[in-house]
Amino acid sequence: MIHVDGRTLINFASNDYLGLSFHPAVCMGATGALAESVGSGASRLVSGDDPMLHRLEQKLAAWKGYEACLIVGSGMLANLGLLQALADRHCHCFSDKLNHASLVDGVRLSGAKAHRYTHLDTAQLEQQLQKHAADRRIIVSDGVFSMDGDCADVAELLSLAETYDTLLLIDDAHGTGTVGETGKGLSDMAGVAGHARLIEVGTFGKAFGSYGAFILATHELIEGLKQRQRTMIYSTALPVALIAAAETALAIIEKGNEVKQLQRNLHYFKAATADLAFMPSDTPIQPMMIGSDEKALSMAKSLADHGFFVPAIRPPTVPEGTARLRFTITAAHTEEQIDALIECLRDVL
Ligand SMILES: Cc1ncc(COP(=O)(O)O)c(C=O)c1O
Repeated sequence: MIHVDGRTLINFASNDYLGLSFHPAVCMGATGALAESVGSGASRLVSGDDPMLHRLEQKLAAWKGYEACLIVGSGMLANLGLLQALADRHCHCFSDKLNHASLVDGVRLSGAKAHRYTHLDTAQLEQQLQKHAADRRIIVSDGVFSMDGDCADVAELLSLAETYDTLLLIDDAHGTGTVGETGKGLSDMAGVAGHARLIEVGTFGKAFGSYGAFILATHELIEGLKQRQRTMIYSTALPVALIAAAETALAIIEKGNEVKQLQRNLHYFKAATADLAFMPSDTPIQPMMIGSDEKALSMAKSLADHGFFVPAIRPPTVPEGTARLRFTITAAHTEEQIDALIECLRDVL
């Protein structure tokens, strides 16, 4: 549920894909830690480096299948800091045109030479890699794309990274906890998690239900980030309540019930809307392309008037002329809620 302008609406917009933001065990985990302290008091390099951070980093690395992990304040801070630490004006970055703003800004702020390829067009990416040789190059892509719900071909990107001797940065903020049988995300599905060229970002703000982010890579790379990642070095560490919440969330995700429920709900939604013009997506992000901003806004308003919160996503978040309704399906939705949404959507259409 979400409260908007004095109304309570059923929320079909949240990235809280597993309903863990209000899961009693996750809330209890945070509350227990809160009883001891609210804030971490300093950055990790000063005095904010709580042992709980290290314990969770080890668990996340083991769960995702990487050598090492670094927890940072948020996904935005993870991507800005990572790119600033890895790239400089001598580096070339190759980015999908629909990458999340945090990756776009990270490339920009790093000062690297930027090359953008058409969304998911690995042939065009390969041409760019052939054309722009440099000592250090990074391919940068969302895993699950946040406004489209489609997925990068991580195996193909990694194969290009190997052929052309580059690093590959995948931000799987939306795939973590949602895609693959066990919710381990796209790198696990592609069987490439833990590869030495692959750096992966996940966040706690989506399927984990709280706030914060983590970076997964080799020991060597993570140790380098601890010395160079300014958004970690010069920013207050996450409060322990959030670390405790994320640790509990991870245990719940590993048990698998919520992930399975999410996948059942998604399957139910997709089967019931197969005749409607949704954009192709097998992830919990199910957008419907509308086109004009006005029409998307008016449809979102009609849905809200009937009790459903589905935002109209407009430029500059998405390219001009591609305003859309972005539905998200979560484990917390009931079949009755999904049925009611679809019935209303058909009326609005
Ligand atoms: C793909 C992607 N990366 C990064 C972020 C930023 O994460 P955070 O909200 O933790 O800053 C988002 C969030 O909206 C996202 O969709």
